[in-house]
Amino acid sequence: AQQTTSTATVKDAKKIDQATLNSILEKNSQRFKLGKVADYIPELGKANAQSIALSVVNNDGTLVSAGDIHQKFTIQSISKIIALMIAVQESGEKAVFEKMGYFGTDKPFNHFGNLETMGKPLNPMMNAGAILTTALIKGNAEEPFAKILKMIRFITNNEQIDYSHAVYNSERETGHRNRGMFYIMRNNGLIDGEGEEKLNNYFKQCSIEITVEDLAKIGYFFANHCVRYDGNKQFQDPNLSQLIQSQMLIAGMYEFSGEYARTVGLPSKSGVGGGIAVSVPRNMGIGAFSPALDQHGNSLAGYHMILDLVNAKHLSLF
Ligand code: DON
Repeated sequence: AQQTTSTATVKDAKKIDQATLNSILEKNSQRFKLGKVADYIPELGKANAQSIALSVVNNDGTLVSAGDIHQKFTIQSISKIIALMIAVQESGEKAVFEKMGYFGTDKPFNHFGNLETMGKPLNPMMNAGAILTTALIKGNAEEPFAKILKMIRFITNNEQIDYSHAVYNSERETGHRNRGMFYIMRNNGLIDGEGEEKLNNYFKQCSIEITVEDLAKIGYFFANHCVRYDGNKQFQDPNLSQLIQSQMLIAGMYEFSGEYARTVGLPSKSGVGGGIAVSVPRNMGIGAFSPALDQHGNSLAGYHMILDLVNAKHLSLF
């Protein structure tokens, strides 16, 4: 009982309040000027660079948020952790990681990595490994995508979530690097089937629209053994959350992951829509949003808001 009390006290001391979020948001509100909204997927270029939001699900499941909390944006690469969860649930970790590595990276997210030399993607966080992960999810046609959408709706407890057809079409029309990876993996025998249905599921999952609060709930879920913020234990699995968080830590911010681990020190996953989901293990979830990105494809203001929050409340793991 002694142990339980002291753990609860520590978590209580780290609890985030509204005033803390407001001041961090305010401090970083002009930072977007130093970044650039992604436009390699033309539809993403339409985002309002000035929008900014920060959200936390505290350990007790209470939500605190500041800024443009109703602003929807596409989840992009943050969907990769959900796809990994489903692929591993269905086929087991061994089967998934026989086809790709656990490696960190010094390469950008859309790099072909070791596809030519090792014959396999480096990890499930970069595009190649993520496209493969989604292709490993069982089901015909749209089913794998539907499973990802359903899981995101479950974790966020938000049945309204859907995907943006405009962003999906934009990705499909311009995603030729991803298409190149997909065909190399077909050639290497990692992906079977015909046509591009399996690639389209990846484009679709990236086009799912969420808010900053949804991201905080996703962060919370993986921080807490896959238990939802409201206590729902349907998918509770400490081993799975450990795997997902380890991949977030070593590759969730791509080639910036090492420097990010040094400065923030928490498992996190970014998306080119401007979102970042953060897990504070066995404690809270954080969501940050600002569409202007740094040279690594990570939200610039998002990173700085997380850094400020981590420093203010001593949240780093290390
Ligand atoms: O495939 C792509 O390029 C995008 N749909 C996702 C990339 C992404 O989010 C990288 N993250 N920072």
